[in-house]
Amino acid sequence: MQHQDATARADAPEEAREFPIPPGVFAETVVWVKHYTDSLFAFRITRPQSFRFRSGEFVMIGLPNAAKPVFRAYSIASPAWDDELEFYSIKVPDGPLTQHLQKIRPGDTVLMRQKPTGTLVLDALKPGKRLYMVATGTGIAPFASLIRDPETYEKFEEVVLTNTCRDVADLAYGDELVEALTNDPLIGELVAGRLTYYATTTRQDHPRMGRITSLIESGKLFSDLGVAPFDPATDRGMICGSMAMLNDVKALMEKAGLEEGSNSRPADFVVERAFVG
Ligand code: A2P
Repeated sequence: MQHQDATARADAPEEAREFPIPPGVFAETVVWVKHYTDSLFAFRITRPQSFRFRSGEFVMIGLPNAAKPVFRAYSIASPAWDDELEFYSIKVPDGPLTQHLQKIRPGDTVLMRQKPTGTLVLDALKPGKRLYMVATGTGIAPFASLIRDPETYEKFEEVVLTNTCRDVADLAYGDELVEALTNDPLIGELVAGRLTYYATTTRQDHPRMGRITSLIESGKLFSDLGVAPFDPATDRGMICGSMAMLNDVKALMEKAGLEEGSNSRPADFVVERAFVG
């Protein structure tokens, strides 16, 4: 459903101006907002009936606060079956979009370009036994979608989600997500014993600490999980986070013999380069 009554309320402007919705864009209503820290928040919007996507894909998000709104790539954090769309975002004080987006409240309008895309999709991976999802910061968003999708568990016997952030509070979105999923009456049973959540911090005390790259290189990740190191015969990977992390984890996967894939050429691991934190 298109909401043509979009205003600049989320932008809290001096005068509430109305701007026309650009072509090829859905105007949706915010239904839920949760602030996790001073720099992290999640929100849910209504889902247009005609909107289809594959779990793990991203869309371009904007606000109706200008004639030519600023759009940024956001991974959809909800699964493909959900009747709402969830997103997880950082707040940048002077960020062209997030300085305004962080102020949204239920009832406000968010713009979404109509075409989803992305490489973190199950179709881009060859069949395997264990799927590693490696996230830093808000890079957990596409995995929040994929770990809630039953298709992930149809294709893989085991799923390992790693979530590395600077501070303990930054892990909260992932912690809550996994806890809710484990207790979910519909998919909880499917996930039980198959999803391992491996959260670490790098700058604040936590039971598990260290960059995921160090934990892979030292072998600690694998000994903690009680599994053999990356093996192209059984293991597949998806990586989402800062550019430096993507490159470093990609190198470690390639060193182990895994090959990078894409939508047109499925292989052993995929990387999301369009990610915006
Ligand atoms: P660190 O604290 O050691 O920089 P950011 O907030 O900068 O995006 O970082 C999110 C998390 O990703 C932090 O825990 C950070 O660790 C980690 N990180 C940053 N760069 C890399 C990298 N090249 N390889 C692995 N982890 C990284």
